[in-house]
Amino acid sequence: MEAKRITAQLRTKHLGRHLEVFKTLPSTNTYLKEQNDLPHGAVIIAADQTAGRGRRGRDFFSPQGGLYMSILLRRTLTASTVGLLTSAAAVAVADAIEAVCPVSVQIKWVNDLLVNSKKVCGILAEGAPADGWAIIGIGVNVDTKVFPRELTAIATSLYKESGKTVSAEQLAAAILNALEPLVEHIENPAFLEDTRRRSAVIGKDITVFHGNETFLAHAVGIDDAGGLIIQKHDGTPCVLTSGEVSIRL
Ligand code: BTN
Repeated sequence: MEAKRITAQLRTKHLGRHLEVFKTLPSTNTYLKEQNDLPHGAVIIAADQTAGRGRRGRDFFSPQGGLYMSILLRRTLTASTVGLLTSAAAVAVADAIEAVCPVSVQIKWVNDLLVNSKKVCGILAEGAPADGWAIIGIGVNVDTKVFPRELTAIATSLYKESGKTVSAEQLAAAILNALEPLVEHIENPAFLEDTRRRSAVIGKDITVFHGNETFLAHAVGIDDAGGLIIQKHDGTPCVLTSGEVSIRL
């Protein structure tokens, strides 16, 4: 992984213009959080992570051969816009993957990307919107050939699905190029049409994990703030703005 090969393919004004590439880090999100003086758009990439973090306190499997990237946004965001960042990143990564690899990408609300119903990418957005910063962490299984046994049924890589070796540098640049216009206009989220078009959950029966609650529901749509519109078992409609869903087969 070489910074200059990424920079050579960037068409952005801010994203990736400050770029640090590491052989290894515990977690690019954690590293970026610890820096105080980096500019808007700064990007941290690691070739592997020893303590990659996922949502809900989980680990994110991060061996060599993946793309592990965190992007710093210095913008004052309202609480609803922070929620949209994950959706914007999901659309940007899906578009970028399809531009460099012959696979078809779906979004499992709100932070997972699937190829052939298995996860190829996870997104972890963190931040303090009132203080004017947010971090978008993106982990893509690019060239991973072997997954731990507990992940084989649910995770995959671009290599495993396409048989092609994708350049992580090319993918990183494509993601940043696709993401910049979306975050610059986050208050006018036209990209939610792509979120809906790519949704793996709309029309499906799902299990919802929300705080300490778990319940069955039917996914109906995605609202204009990126929330998931669901119908509970008893017919009550409601909108999820956070939490996690799994698709029932
Ligand atoms: C999830 O699947 O729950 C989210 C996974 C997010 C992983 C990325 S990899 C780059 C960044 N650094 C981390 O420690 N996590 C995110």
